[in-house]
Amino acid sequence: MKKTKLEYSASQTRFGLVQFLLIVLLFYFLCMSFEIPFIFRTGSNSGSDYGSFTDTLPRQMLVGGEANWVVGEEDPHRPFKDPGRVRQVGRVQFKTVSEIFVNSSFFDNGGVSDEFSIFHKTAKHAISMGRKMWNGLDSGLIEETPIKNRTEKCPEMVSVTEFEFEKKSRVLVLPCGLTLGSHVTVVATPHWAHAERDGRVTKGDDVKTEMVMVTQFMMELQGLKAVDGEDPPRILHFNPRIKGDWSGRPVIEQNTCYRMQWGSALRCDGRESSDEEESVDGEVKCERWKRDDVGDGYDESRKTWWLNRLMGRRKKITHDWPFPFEEGKLFVLTLRAGMEGYHISVNGRHITSFPYRTGFVLEDATGLAVKGNIDVHSVYASTLPSTNPSFAPQKHLEMQSIWKAPSLPQKPVELFIGILSAGNHFAERMAVRKSWMQQKLVKSSKVVARFFVALHARKEVNVDLKKEAEYFGDIVIVPYMDHYDLVVLKTVAICEYGVSTVGAKYIMKCDDDTFVRVDAVIQEAEKVKGRESLYIGNINFYHKPLRTGKWAVTYEEWPEEYYPPYANGPGYILSYDIAKFIVDDFEQQKLRLFKMEDVSMGMWVEKFNETRPVAVIHSLKFCQFGCIEDYFTAHYQSPRQMICMWDKLQRLGKPQCCNMR
Ligand SMILES: *[C@@H]1O[C@H](CO)[C@@H](O)[C@H](O)[C@H]1NC(C)=O
Ligand SMILES: *[C@@H]1O[C@H](CO)[C@@H](O)[C@H](O)[C@H]1NC(C)=O
Ligand SMILES: *[C@@H]1O[C@H](CO)[C@@H](O)[C@H](O)[C@H]1NC(C)=O
Repeated sequence: MKKTKLEYSASQTRFGLVQFLLIVLLFYFLCMSFEIPFIFRTGSNSGSDYGSFTDTLPRQMLVGGEANWVVGEEDPHRPFKDPGRVRQVGRVQFKTVSEIFVNSSFFDNGGVSDEFSIFHKTAKHAISMGRKMWNGLDSGLIEETPIKNRTEKCPEMVSVTEFEFEKKSRVLVLPCGLTLGSHVTVVATPHWAHAERDGRVTKGDDVKTEMVMVTQFMMELQGLKAVDGEDPPRILHFNPRIKGDWSGRPVIEQNTCYRMQWGSALRCDGRESSDEEESVDGEVKCERWKRDDVGDGYDESRKTWWLNRLMGRRKKITHDWPFPFEEGKLFVLTLRAGMEGYHISVNGRHITSFPYRTGFVLEDATGLAVKGNIDVHSVYASTLPSTNPSFAPQKHLEMQSIWKAPSLPQKPVELFIGILSAGNHFAERMAVRKSWMQQKLVKSSKVVARFFVALHARKEVNVDLKKEAEYFGDIVIVPYMDHYDLVVLKTVAICEYGVSTVGAKYIMKCDDDTFVRVDAVIQEAEKVKGRESLYIGNINFYHKPLRTGKWAVTYEEWPEEYYPPYANGPGYILSYDIAKFIVDDFEQQKLRLFKMEDVSMGMWVEKFNETRPVAVIHSLKFCQFGCIEDYFTAHYQSPRQMICMWDKLQRLGKPQCCNMR
């Protein structure tokens, strides 16, 4: 600023002193009001290279992505104060695209494993497809379809007959999901009970081999469009067990299932929910019905009914109705979407209410499935939304500058957190942004967190992803077509980014359904004194690969009998030197890659340990299966739970779980 001012004065000597001073003053105020961009412009030769994501976009995104593929455009690394950690000081910029595949010869000759291993073939294909997709996106060949054309027109009402429903594998597609006030009516008849050996609904430690009479059915609202390549989330699972429940009574169980993890079930067994339990839109969660085991219950309630009628005190009439579903008897069930939850009535009478649980919105409930021992005669869905926002307007509501990531800092970073995510996990990313990414260490850039996302097969998803990345500045795109078996490449990309771009002391990997207590994680790492190399997490020792079933690992993929000790994938930390070792090995094509990223990490740490000892710290507080009190990280947290946990942490100052009822 000073220099500019002097230059200015030198060329303006013919002005009078007063005029000159006035101009200087004016100029000074101008500088003050544009302080940030001004400093940036003078600090670097190419202004737009600079971080400040709120003001300018990084150059790649303005100019186009070609630069991302140029080999060797890196500046010579300048050593940092911290020995071993290097970083491009003075040219810190946010890279939207990971550079791990810059060397295009990767996977051409297969690295260490044999040339035609399945992993390398898959990777090679995914990388070349991803490159095409990204180049298309970047050059504008793949363009956003106009919003008008993207919004599907949906019928306000859908109905199917028995025949059509069976033909569609008992799934009714609700193309635009549900909206407030939508209702679905199912007319059906439960089957007569059949004998089942040790029926699935029985419970108990002793293995029963006796025959049990069972009849039950399940009605589910599923998020058919919410995910790809995994089971759709069950937004509502409604399961009446007419016969065969372990309690020996007819019950109705309701639950949700998110990422294959069931929540805690809401069981209705004929007792009315107590007043202490919160109600749903003013309705009780469970209505009462006649229970054959409570002999005098009927008489008693009849007495109170008469009494109430005579005295005229209570308007509510308590009459004991039987269990709403009976074998071989037709029923009409109606599900209604309320403000706070789903309400279910059978034959006109309210039976249960289930509060909304997961972070999914009503529009996400795009399928109604009926399973089990039941004949469905017809299904009607009405008061449906006529347009599907394709999640776009909803996304626009979320596009607020307060959730943008701060630009990369000039100073050393303590911890870099790489969060694995997928193209269409917008709700999950938003929950992370609004919760633990608001921690002051992240806000002040002592900790940097970024999402690592690969490309989606559907181009619209990538168009949206690119926009989201440009807006929030917290997404690193790993340019390959997303594939379940290639997650390990994202882990390598996290290491590469943490080492080359951020130069962080510690590097952490987690998932987009992991809640992280950032401060506690750093403290845990700092506790390790006198040792440079560390690997912290919930460590598995002597685990064996599964050789059968859906997730089987072949002997080709993993010939050894055991896995090395490895930290569970949803949350672990490494020191800089280990990450650097991994990146170097990868670049020299010496890194052994296995489809399970957490096992791979254990394997790499084991190899590193041959040259320098690693402190391996095991803690159960990196919780793998949900949440425990006093956690460091919690997993399988739905977007809603994330927000709730963050709220609790702020309000109570204590790490507490949010197990939604
Ligand atoms: C790319 O890989 C080849 C083969 O290992 C290697 O010789 C070359 O140096 C690499 N290039 C860069 C820029 O890393
Ligand atoms: C929607 O896209 C189709 C081609 O896919 C085009 O023919 C049509 O004109 C578009 N409609 C609008 C309203 O843009
Ligand atoms: C590291 O190596 C030492 C021996 O050099 C061994 O005792 C230790 O178990 C190894 N740790 C890991 C994590 O492999």
